[in-house]
Amino acid sequence: MNHSMLAKDLDKDHPLQGLLNKAAAFVPENLYKKDEIYWFEKHYKLDQSSFFGSLSPSLKNDVLLDLNHKSLSLAHYIEKFGLNYGAKMILNADTTEAKSLYALFSGDEVKHRLWIDQFIQRPVGLDIDFHPLLPALALCLEKGNYTATVFSIQVILEGFGLYHYFQLKETCQNLALKEVFGQILKDETLHHGMGVAMMKSFTLDEETKEQITELTALFVKSLLEADWVLKSLRQIGGDLTSSQVKQFKDEIDYEKQLQLRVEKIKSLIQKVGHQGLFEELERRKIFKK
Ligand SMILES: [Fe+2]
Ligand SMILES: [Fe+2]
Repeated sequence: MNHSMLAKDLDKDHPLQGLLNKAAAFVPENLYKKDEIYWFEKHYKLDQSSFFGSLSPSLKNDVLLDLNHKSLSLAHYIEKFGLNYGAKMILNADTTEAKSLYALFSGDEVKHRLWIDQFIQRPVGLDIDFHPLLPALALCLEKGNYTATVFSIQVILEGFGLYHYFQLKETCQNLALKEVFGQILKDETLHHGMGVAMMKSFTLDEETKEQITELTALFVKSLLEADWVLKSLRQIGGDLTSSQVKQFKDEIDYEKQLQLRVEKIKSLIQKVGHQGLFEELERRKIFKK
């Protein structure tokens, strides 16, 4: 099955656009000022970086606009991914309630994307490789069986997403966007809760355990590899020497940030029981960079 992240977007004046807005009870508005910054340096820990501090005000602004755009583009793609995710899960679930929940959740993801898109100030582009999580999602949808997909997407990814969206909400300077993240968090709590409840009731066969191990390893790797803040800084602020990169990582507590991500994922895995699974992941050293 193909993922839906690169589905074609119709023009704004296409009749389906109006029908979609009506069905989603959505009134599109541009809710930002030109070049508005939603998250400042503190959100990206750049206030701790002497390299960032040494840039001119206009370069600093450009780095922040780029990072803001990437934060929203990532959210846009994750929500758009929910379309084919919902389709696969509705088809594969075997109870009326699970199928119904997936249909409703898919609708939530549509609304989340519509809300977020109102704050995106330039085209998102067609590249999903800018964040390692997105190609990992595509692979998971293609390869994972039903149970392994519930685990990797709803337990791990949406669980991690709650933590990520909460941080975006907390530090967001645009009140309307802050409210959007607040609403998304309410919905995502249910999506994640469904995954946790289902995983607790599943018995895992060997093939599923193997898939879960592989997909979790893939997600952990993608979350540990994500260093887009440094990439943006290099692209816009100028290249850094290897000793400057080391200094940058020390200043922003990069290792500690990675450790926090690992701890978060570990606690999500342990939430669903299946202790043997957790031990297997530890044994394969997937939490080590
Ligand atoms: Fe969502
Ligand atoms: Fe969700």
